[in-house]
Amino acid sequence: MEKSFIMIKPDGVQRGLVGNIISKFEAKGFTLVGLKQMSVSRELAEAHYAVHKERPFFGSLVDYIISAPVVAMVWEGNGVIASARKLIGATNPLEAEPGTIRGDYGITIGRNLIHGSDAPETAASEIELWFGESGLCSWEPALKPWLYE
Ligand code: RTP
Ligand code: MG
Repeated sequence: MEKSFIMIKPDGVQRGLVGNIISKFEAKGFTLVGLKQMSVSRELAEAHYAVHKERPFFGSLVDYIISAPVVAMVWEGNGVIASARKLIGATNPLEAEPGTIRGDYGITIGRNLIHGSDAPETAASEIELWFGESGLCSWEPALKPWLYE
């Protein structure tokens, strides 16, 4: 079953939006299989955003991610990677549609509340980096939203 790594960034935690954000994924019908609040080391933040190493915002992005605890999650379900990106909205919250997490709660690209994996390969490597296979708690909901047309 498809999985995505989702992280509520420090601003989402500081602003008390954790429950609200989790609710959106739960209500959509995805299954929570990994959840932890944690302080992030510089090493982990740099590894997570390694693809952006050469970008001018890399230093401030890493400083932001390690500035306060994050909530790291893995959500499971058919199509969860693309669907989570839609729930999250565009990278720049000013361009994100109302109804999306960034569209409803943010105004600044440097404080855009939440991360979501962008492809199956990045989801797999991010889940390995943040949780490892043994760090997940897989379970099968009695009601399977993806079985119904
Ligand atoms: P994320 O990886 O965090 O889910 O965000 P994303 O895919 O929507 O955007 P991405 O291009 O991967 O950028 C990663 C994060 O870097 C920060 N950023 N700042 N100042 C800037 O121009 C700029 N551009 C990107 C954002 O926090 C973005 O989420
Ligand atoms: Mg990204």
